[in-house]
Amino acid sequence: MTTALVPDGHSRVWWATPQQPPADTVSGVLSPPELERAMRFHRDADRRRFLTACLLLRAAAAAHLDIAPHQVHVERRCPDCGKPHGKPHILHTPEPLYASVSHSGDRVAVALSTAGPIGVDVEQIPDAPVNELIRSALTPAEQDFVRSLPERHQHAAFTRIWVIKEAVLKATGHGLRVPPRHVSVSYPHQPPALLDWPLDVPVDELRLSALDPGPGYAGMIATISGAGPVSVMEAEVDDLTRMPFTTIGIAA
Ligand SMILES: CC(C)(COP(=O)(O)OP(=O)(O)OC[C@H]1O[C@@H](n2cnc3c(N)ncnc32)[C@H](O)[C@@H]1OP(=O)(O)O)[C@@H](O)C(=O)NCCC(=O)NCCS
Repeated sequence: MTTALVPDGHSRVWWATPQQPPADTVSGVLSPPELERAMRFHRDADRRRFLTACLLLRAAAAAHLDIAPHQVHVERRCPDCGKPHGKPHILHTPEPLYASVSHSGDRVAVALSTAGPIGVDVEQIPDAPVNELIRSALTPAEQDFVRSLPERHQHAAFTRIWVIKEAVLKATGHGLRVPPRHVSVSYPHQPPALLDWPLDVPVDELRLSALDPGPGYAGMIATISGAGPVSVMEAEVDDLTRMPFTTIGIAA
């Protein structure tokens, strides 16, 4: 029996700042493949983002399923190499619970949905020149649009277009196996939309909502649902150490 943390037909997003959780929390909650991955990061910042996302995903799913975070069965299986990484799947029945994770800079996003497969993406708006990114990731029309903007607006415009592309490709699980320059999306001043792509999923089944990760970032969630609009709610989680997670700002 599930709670209504993620009501039918809804998607929810939880935001956190990367944190270094206490060792006993990590070892008591994460699965062996998650612990192994955490140990392999060379940079502390990458490890913190990964650990924060793992704990947040387990906390949110546990709260929805009314079980403990360590009991959540999260499976990641790369279709290319078979290793335990890639799109996370929450393996609990009968009603499917779809999940997605993203991290960039100081922002970690975890999304759950009962509406359909989801992809969430957050990106820090880059300081460095984006010319090469524009050339490699955007369609020719998108390139012309972004380059027509004053240079100070090009970074944010590129990032907004990019998060739409990543969110829709994460929703299907393809990720960047599909070149983003083959995916055509709306411009930043328009409501977010997928216009064209080389996949079988009809573009009008992708429900997009811009997210609010805070200044200097862009965020997007895509839900694959043929059943009309999807309601998306966002919440900030301040303290990952306050177990059980059902009490830390993610109550329904
Ligand atoms: C999905 C992808 C675009 C994310 O890239 P990113 O912008 O650097 O990272 P984000 O922080 O936004 O997202 C990372 C999260 O996406 C999820 N993810 C990874 N691959 C995914 C995929 N194919 N579909 C959906 N989600 C995916 C994971 O939850 C990952 O989090 P984790 O590293 O903490 O487990 C990129 O990893 C990708 O294209 N992967 C597919 C290709 C691939 O991995 N090949 C591996 C061959 S061995």
